[in-house]
Amino acid sequence: MRHFLTLRDFTKDEILDILNLAITIKKETKAGVLKDYMPKKTLGMIFEKSSTRTRVSFETGIYQLGGIGLFLSSNDIQLGRGEPMKDTARVISRMVDMVMIRTFSQSKIEEFAKYSDVPVINGLTDEYHPVQLMADYMTLMEHNMCDNLKVTYIGDGNNMTHSWLILAAKLGFELRVATPKGYEVNSEILDYALSEAKKSGAKIIITNDPKEAMKDVTVATTDTWVSMGQEDEKEKRLKDFNGFIVDDALMSLADKNCKFLHCLPAYRGYEVSEDVLEGKNSLVFDEAENRLHAQKGIMVWLDRNRS
Ligand code: CP
Ligand code: NVA
Repeated sequence: MRHFLTLRDFTKDEILDILNLAITIKKETKAGVLKDYMPKKTLGMIFEKSSTRTRVSFETGIYQLGGIGLFLSSNDIQLGRGEPMKDTARVISRMVDMVMIRTFSQSKIEEFAKYSDVPVINGLTDEYHPVQLMADYMTLMEHNMCDNLKVTYIGDGNNMTHSWLILAAKLGFELRVATPKGYEVNSEILDYALSEAKKSGAKIIITNDPKEAMKDVTVATTDTWVSMGQEDEKEKRLKDFNGFIVDDALMSLADKNCKFLHCLPAYRGYEVSEDVLEGKNSLVFDEAENRLHAQKGIMVWLDRNRS
């Protein structure tokens, strides 16, 4: 049985299979054809952090596939009162057909998966956000951006950055990452990405200079400087990230057709300017919509690869 905990566990062909499945299901949905890919299946959705896109995309997605989603906030289930993850996993996975979890450390979701009888999907951890990256790359496929793709990520070395690193390393495109000093990516994840990049031909460049990272890229992306769980560091972070805003000045260094992505929620005036976020090259709302379809692709693929 396969889980979807990190893109590390997937080959290039598997990632592209899931994305092509998502694009097919999106076309069917847009044509008004809702096929019962997962009739009467239940998706348990455990949230230990807030969410708009992840919750709505999975809950709507499973419904459109013929099943139903169960929203389980950790405030409302016994997990929030200290019931161990391994007990929660054994109980819930005997009742539902698939589980999506948004939590803090990756080790928590790995523990859940170890004890689960059903496929588990990572809906964001401190280390990774793989379901978001599927929607991001799907958006680039739809906008014909994947040939000679050069992506830059400007900002915090966080769960989004790590997932971009793994995706670039697996699929073989160029990725530049510019973070302020002290906010670099996790070194173990970087080492893994660099070793995968040798096989795929990906070019990965790490720098502390956003201008250097922006030169001639075809896609620019960023994320909040203060991720969920880092609220106490907000004041310091806002100072340390000075100069890392993706604005028109920075975008002018990129390819003239450079597209902009952001997983959202965005904090205008901090990691991105209003003009870039709302500009003609911003794909952020196509990207957000694709969460729905990418998530359906992942669920159907896992359901088919259950054995
Ligand atoms: N991008 C994303 O995962 O958004 P939510 O936190 O709203 O789910
Ligand atoms: N890096 C952000 C992503 C939110 C979707 C966070 O973890 O809060």
